[in-house]
Amino acid sequence: SKPKVVICRNLGPAMPLLMDRTDLDLVVWGEDSACTRAWLLENIKGATGVLVLLQEMVDAELLDAAGPSLRVVSTMSVGTDHIDLPLMAKRNIRVGYTPDVLTEAVADLSVMLALMAGRNDGVAYSLVKSGDWPKFNWSPFTFCGPQLSTTSSSPSRTVGFLGFGRIGQATLARLIPFGITHVLYTGRSTSAPDSARDTALREKHRLAAVEHASLDRLARESDILFVLTPGGQDTYHLVDSVFLRKMKPLSVLVNTGRGTVVDADALATALREKWIWGAGIDVLEGEPRISADHPLVKEPRCVIVPHIGSATFQTRMDMATRAIDNLVAGVLGGNMPAELVAK
Ligand code: GLV
Ligand code: GLV
Repeated sequence: SKPKVVICRNLGPAMPLLMDRTDLDLVVWGEDSACTRAWLLENIKGATGVLVLLQEMVDAELLDAAGPSLRVVSTMSVGTDHIDLPLMAKRNIRVGYTPDVLTEAVADLSVMLALMAGRNDGVAYSLVKSGDWPKFNWSPFTFCGPQLSTTSSSPSRTVGFLGFGRIGQATLARLIPFGITHVLYTGRSTSAPDSARDTALREKHRLAAVEHASLDRLARESDILFVLTPGGQDTYHLVDSVFLRKMKPLSVLVNTGRGTVVDADALATALREKWIWGAGIDVLEGEPRISADHPLVKEPRCVIVPHIGSATFQTRMDMATRAIDNLVAGVLGGNMPAELVAK
């Protein structure tokens, strides 16, 4: 009999890649919304593989509902916080994910948020949208903010990366033309110190420094800080009130990594009390249950978008394709294009 695979989402334009397969017994959640837990628990019974997104918790409950047939979990995401990886290893279940294909899209959004947060775009944009442009008569210093690019009167800029993996390095590549001068980074396994790489980056881009640094230095010296670490316990609230209090008053924090890395209440306080200048947020603790009353949503200098870092037509199609290829290869016992090996 054909292996059963469960698809938790309507994958839109990528669906034909699955529907054309006659060698699989497909069970597909048909609606545009996220599948319900009840549907998933019921339908995963006897499945060999399952394709999930970030919303699906892959835990003991789900594995028990599936039973011993389950061999492969394929997630359409680079992050795997929703998957209990030690448990997967213990039960010998392979995990596929989608690194690399979303690197450029997330780097693009990271730079966009750095620019928007620095330049007051949240406030300036809503002023126009609410019809108040006539009231704003171009006063010389209204809406001013710190400038990302260097100038001859302001010739140095330090960019910090909390997490300097693929996305961090792609973000740096985009910042070079802005004339940034110093790069500091720290983080977990994806951002190990690499002095040969750092020397090469420094020489290639004529930077004054590319250095692995302590959290303390990252906080104190960054003009723009990009949070690009994975989530999970190792990075939980690395950016807390202690960290934020050390930051420069004109600094900008961008989080396109994981919401749990930044203490959201502390960040709201930091903005309100002007410990830092602004924040650009794509990921937030507690998402998607974020209301208009959330302290960060209410902060004028916080530019927030709802976790859309990889949301381009090209990248989402590449992610869906990669997730499907991982699933199919795993279910048929072949090499998965991107398999996560539990560390
Ligand atoms: C998005 O955050 C992802 O993990 O792919
Ligand atoms: C994720 O792809 C990272 O390593 O930054």
